[in-house]
Amino acid sequence: MMEFTLRNDELYCEDVPLAEIAEKIGTPCFVYSTAALLKAYEDLDRAFSGVEHLICFSVKSNGNLAVLSLLSRHGAGMDIVSRGELFRSLKAGVPAERIVYSGVGKTREEIRYALESGILSFNVESLPELEALDREAGLLGKRAPVSLRINPDVESHTHEYTATGKKENKFGIPYAGALQAYAQAAGYRNLEIRGIDTHIGSQITSFEPFIQAFRKIADLFNTLRNKGFDLQFCDIGGGLGIAYRDETPLTAEQYASAVRPILEPLGCRIILEPGRFISGNAGVLLTRVIHFKQTGVRNFAVVDAGMNDLIRPSLYGAYHEILPVHANGGPEVKMDVVGPICESGDWLAKDRQLPKLKEGDLLCVNSAGAYSYTMSSNYNSRPRGAEVLVDGRKYRVVRRAETYDDLIRGEEV
Ligand code: LLP
Repeated sequence: MMEFTLRNDELYCEDVPLAEIAEKIGTPCFVYSTAALLKAYEDLDRAFSGVEHLICFSVKSNGNLAVLSLLSRHGAGMDIVSRGELFRSLKAGVPAERIVYSGVGKTREEIRYALESGILSFNVESLPELEALDREAGLLGKRAPVSLRINPDVESHTHEYTATGKKENKFGIPYAGALQAYAQAAGYRNLEIRGIDTHIGSQITSFEPFIQAFRKIADLFNTLRNKGFDLQFCDIGGGLGIAYRDETPLTAEQYASAVRPILEPLGCRIILEPGRFISGNAGVLLTRVIHFKQTGVRNFAVVDAGMNDLIRPSLYGAYHEILPVHANGGPEVKMDVVGPICESGDWLAKDRQLPKLKEGDLLCVNSAGAYSYTMSSNYNSRPRGAEVLVDGRKYRVVRRAETYDDLIRGEEV
């Protein structure tokens, strides 16, 4: 969280006091740092310099148009999984030829939209999808660019919900069936086989799972080339973890030095699909204490952000560091930080030592740049807060807070 610092006992994002944003824009709200986004992107870009590569930012981690546009202007492509994410990416000005499309359930309508847009590659996850893609491409008189997403069956040592590279998972084409799938793909007239793809999971903090997976993918790549497949790229997915608490994730440099020796001999373009590594620690969620409640059994800081704003703690038991925006140095007490939603699973933190809080105090929930706004909802009819992008001493609202009219848009009595 390098761009979020304490100055004179007050938290800043770059050169802007977070309290100023909370005051002007309201809470809850998400605040992103331009410098942090660019630093992570550029670290990774630099770590792969000397090998032809394209960093396709994973839109599902943070789909804000301003974020996509910023990264795209610095050369990034996008990794998408739906028509909506493609729509967003194009609206943000991302060139279609820098977009790769993964996902186990692309509908015909989504396939058509992506074919018409002219994306770089469909990361195809099953044989029925190959067939559908061939049919739709034929109807449009186009050839669909294809990579097969191969499931290498490796353990990624992450939360079971975010592991995607084991054979039990729904993702990709089983490793054992890969050659057969390529042979089948080659038989379709309207497909152009361009590459190979894998993605083994998310929030991975050691390099062994990547190495195991990429060795298997590299073997397959070589076998396929020997069989005459003209593979132009190898897409290695995302998955690089970040520090939420005391993890020691890989740096871009460490990751690159572990995987480059496996990938460089392939002599092809490398595509990366990082999401969290770029956006995770580039954002925070600002929230205000509604009141501090003591039940005799536990202490609760009830805040104005809930599981509808940030579902990661409820869904994965995820840890997000929480800091008071104004460090008051007062005595700390153990408390749960909870939202206003009518579920006991609505918590942002449990058993946290924080200064005794009172109504109106501001809290900063760290590491909320990835899978936070994008996973938010209107549960309990709560309008979402704004998204704000900071750049040096300046900041701007890049998505306004929702209004109550937004909440009922499209509904009828
Ligand atoms: N590529 C594909 C095909 C993916 O499915 C994903 C993430 C990524 C790239 C980016 O992964 P990253 O670099 O961000 O790890 N909601 C969960 C994370 C789900 C990730 C899903 N796929 C969370 O909040 O932890």
